[in-house]
Amino acid sequence: MNKIIVANWKMNPSTLKEAEELFRVSTNAIVCPPFVYLEELSKIKSGAILGAQDIAFSDEPGQTGEVSGEMLRQLGVKYVIIGHSERRWRLGESDEIVNKKLKLALVHNFTPIVCIGEKVRDESFRGFLKGQIDSTFDGLSGEQIKKCLIAYEPVWAISTNPGAEPDTPETALESVNFIKSIVNIKVLYGGSVDSKNVKDFISLPEISGVLVGGASVSKEEFINLLNEVSK
Ligand code: 13P
Repeated sequence: MNKIIVANWKMNPSTLKEAEELFRVSTNAIVCPPFVYLEELSKIKSGAILGAQDIAFSDEPGQTGEVSGEMLRQLGVKYVIIGHSERRWRLGESDEIVNKKLKLALVHNFTPIVCIGEKVRDESFRGFLKGQIDSTFDGLSGEQIKKCLIAYEPVWAISTNPGAEPDTPETALESVNFIKSIVNIKVLYGGSVDSKNVKDFISLPEISGVLVGGASVSKEEFINLLNEVSK
């Protein structure tokens, strides 16, 4: 099954040794580790592709704590997650900043994995998604948009949020189809995906892959998930 599997390690694991072990088994996945592990992981031939969890919003060097596109490029990074909900909601990353990061990721020739998703599921979800898509992709040409992937991650389904449970494939499909009616590019699903439910989502032709958090940082669980996908 030709689906895109992205591992968002978030702020895991705690040691480089664990990161190396995890990376070695993440064959055929796009792995987005914390920045500090990128250099060592870039030396390992595992069949995994490197992605970054974020990028600085401008190339101007006076930015404490940020990592530039050029630095990421030198480490062999090919994909960059843009506008993850944990950055939008917990750190207050605005649509304007997300839009700048997206533009810069394209300037540096990365494939952006653009995260969108509603915070609560009620009848307002279409309006919310439309607004988020419009402001995130503001000013991009059709050609530029085609170079992006969207990760639809309903915030309420992300495992680190209280009371989270995965979206149902039917409801996820409703959102994915709505997103594709605005921007017709590949859409991944993310939100409590694990080895047990991954098949329910990726068996839908409209869903091009998954963005996995928690289940991607347990070696056994991620191996099981990758096995499920390749069945
Ligand atoms: P979980 O898979 O832990 O719910 O995380 C989803 C996510 O935020 C991936 O970016």
